[in-house]
Amino acid sequence: MKMSLRILSLLTLLLLAACSSDADQSSDSEPLPLAVGGAMAFGPVAVTHGGVGSPPEWMPLTQAAADSAFVRLSETTDALEGALAGTVAMENIPVFNAGTGANIRLDGKTIQMDAAVMTSAGGFAAVAVIERVKHPILVARAVMDTPHRMLAGDGATRFAHAMGFADVVPTCPEAEAKFRQRWRNLLAGKAGGGYETFDWRRAWNFPGPLPAGADSVTGPAGPETGDTVGTVTRASDGSFAVTLSTGGTSITLDGRVGDVPVFGCGSFAGPAGAVACTGHGEEIIRQMLARTVYNLMADGLSARDAAVRAAEAFPAEWSVGIIAVDANGWGVAANRQMAYGVAPDVLE
Ligand code: GLY
Repeated sequence: MKMSLRILSLLTLLLLAACSSDADQSSDSEPLPLAVGGAMAFGPVAVTHGGVGSPPEWMPLTQAAADSAFVRLSETTDALEGALAGTVAMENIPVFNAGTGANIRLDGKTIQMDAAVMTSAGGFAAVAVIERVKHPILVARAVMDTPHRMLAGDGATRFAHAMGFADVVPTCPEAEAKFRQRWRNLLAGKAGGGYETFDWRRAWNFPGPLPAGADSVTGPAGPETGDTVGTVTRASDGSFAVTLSTGGTSITLDGRVGDVPVFGCGSFAGPAGAVACTGHGEEIIRQMLARTVYNLMADGLSARDAAVRAAEAFPAEWSVGIIAVDANGWGVAANRQMAYGVAPDVLE
């Protein structure tokens, strides 16, 4: 099986070399810090991102996730199976803001996650503000087999447990260190996202009062890097899928929902390709960003050019990252640094 996978990879790369030498890094004139893509007109493809803001040092992790997706795509023509494998891999890794490493919210204990899946055949399902599961992306997949499109809050959590997903709070020391840094920034008036001026103490809506000692933070703080993780895939039959999973943001009221589970905003897939976004959820929703990128591809832009155009048009004060795949290739763009992976591996 390993040998046949290698042969498939090799064939794809040979074809690539024959078809195009366009697996380009961004040109000098490109204003975005990340704008890459290339042609890949044959066979399965998987592209992952580790969230806008994630450093280049995480590229081996996002590449390994893309490789996991590609392995699955070599076994099936179900593009969604591949996209699930990529995102599940990242939900297992504490540095990412999804599953195990999901952000802790403002009360210092709640972890509320969003996830969505979509296929080019028109399947869509999502979970919002789900708690106490390690793999929200698999719960979103399970919602697809119900008569519904989205489950939210306690209902989503209880559905997950009823379907046999383990009742676990998915946290880790990395998430706790990240939370302490965010809280420090909040107290210093540097939290961003409108929280510099927003009276969050007055709006406090978590169960119970503000935690004792909320005016100071003790313990080691960690880097604030990374947002939502995502995977886009093309299967060998030319179908597409996308999966997207997030711990959202720490600096938020109870019950906040970002772009990830909102249809057409964080992710989109259709006959022209698949798109996954990461970044400031409120602005991504306002721009219906994934659908916007998809429409550009449907109008004839390459996956790379569509991702770049949308990222360039995004307000510079808000972070954004986009990955996309179409019938002819792949694209990645971001207005901050962002770790990503592509399989078959063209990045070596
Ligand atoms: N982009 C993830 C969120 O805003 O929740």
